[in-house]
Amino acid sequence: MKIVNIVGARPNFMKIAPIIKAMRKRPQICPLLVHTGQHYDASMAGRFFEELDIPRPDVSLDVGSGSHAFQTAEVMKRLEPVLEREKPDLVLVVGDVNSTMAAAVTAAKLKIKVAHVEAGLRSFDRDMPEEINRIVTDAVCDFLFVTEESGQTNLLHEGVCKDKIFFVGNVMIDSLEASRKLWAQSRILDTLNLRKSDYGVVTLHRPSNVDDMRTLEGLMSALCTISERCPLVFPVHPRTIGALKSLSRVSDHVHFGKDTLVNKGIRCIDPVGYLDFMALVASSRIVLTDSGGLQEETTVLGIPCLTLRENTERPVTVTHGTNRVIGSTPSRIEKEAAALLDIPLRPSIPPPLWDGQAAERVVNILVEQL
Ligand code: UD1
Ligand code: UDP
Repeated sequence: MKIVNIVGARPNFMKIAPIIKAMRKRPQICPLLVHTGQHYDASMAGRFFEELDIPRPDVSLDVGSGSHAFQTAEVMKRLEPVLEREKPDLVLVVGDVNSTMAAAVTAAKLKIKVAHVEAGLRSFDRDMPEEINRIVTDAVCDFLFVTEESGQTNLLHEGVCKDKIFFVGNVMIDSLEASRKLWAQSRILDTLNLRKSDYGVVTLHRPSNVDDMRTLEGLMSALCTISERCPLVFPVHPRTIGALKSLSRVSDHVHFGKDTLVNKGIRCIDPVGYLDFMALVASSRIVLTDSGGLQEETTVLGIPCLTLRENTERPVTVTHGTNRVIGSTPSRIEKEAAALLDIPLRPSIPPPLWDGQAAERVVNILVEQL
């Protein structure tokens, strides 16, 4: 059984790692890996292969950056001949990035069966490019593996046949659990001179937050205020670096040194590797983010998370986890962060099936069904 697995952008790597590992244990499966190249910097892609023990890609499409249409079209154009040559029994895609949607559509039109891991999540906000990717991907897939109950409910509401839907848990948490011993040994706190539970972690990269100067300035002003009480570490996504550089010319809240950001209480650094990042988050006091994956990781690690968005496609992180979705208004962010810093950390219980075994379930089902 030949399965072509697709990765492209940073959040795909921690999702595919446990799936490939589980596939390699089955003699009846021949897994291939295609990297679209949507993300290409070592800090956004290359380093995760080694850290997560992902085999080298069998095929690299080297698509790179561009508009949504350009990126989607290039993945489709470059993937089609690969699928025609390899004739796989299945194409497996993860997450909700442009590479996910482009690969799913390409395979479906070649009449190849497609599996989507992390299906059914919906923010109900079509201004988010990922929401369109989620809807289109799920519409053409044959196997829909969901991480939480809302995924199942959303798909059923959309008229998907229940035989296609499988509640398997969260493969991202498989990676977190499988590498726990490794990230527990990270020296990143020493390197950054941080003390456990005495700092916050920030990540921002949603276009709705970082592409609009006024919104970004408001967020940076709120972060500056919070950092007076709790120092913040901010590994800056490449999309956000450009925006912060432009903002620094007109704002009091963003300062550049020679060529790096130097904001007083906010330590801006390059994106960090997965193991260092997990170590940073696990020992933090608070996380402020617009990332999808980080809402899930903080839920399992029991770290309070403020999601700086108007909605989430991962409601279980709010109902079962540590997540609060609070929008991007500076005064609210400052108020919510102050309130969280006033109460002690509470232990949390992971949502159903977020137990480190999701990839095994995915692969068992594929073997059974195919
Ligand atoms: C993409 C995904 C988003 C995901 C995020 C994870 C889509 C529509 N968006 O957003 O869902 O949450 O990845 O990080 O698929 N760049 C670099 N180096 C790289 C990659 C990108 O410098 O290795 C810069 C380029 O200037 C590029 C910009 O970042 O134009 C944005 O990259 P892109 O992949 O288009 O979108 P992301 O914002 O990364
Ligand atoms: N991450 C990382 N280093 C960083 C920031 C993030 O290793 O500096 C990891 C982390 O596991 C996170 C994942 O990358 O959950 C995906 O993050 P991203 O915010 O890029 O994507 P999203 O989950 O929002 O699609």
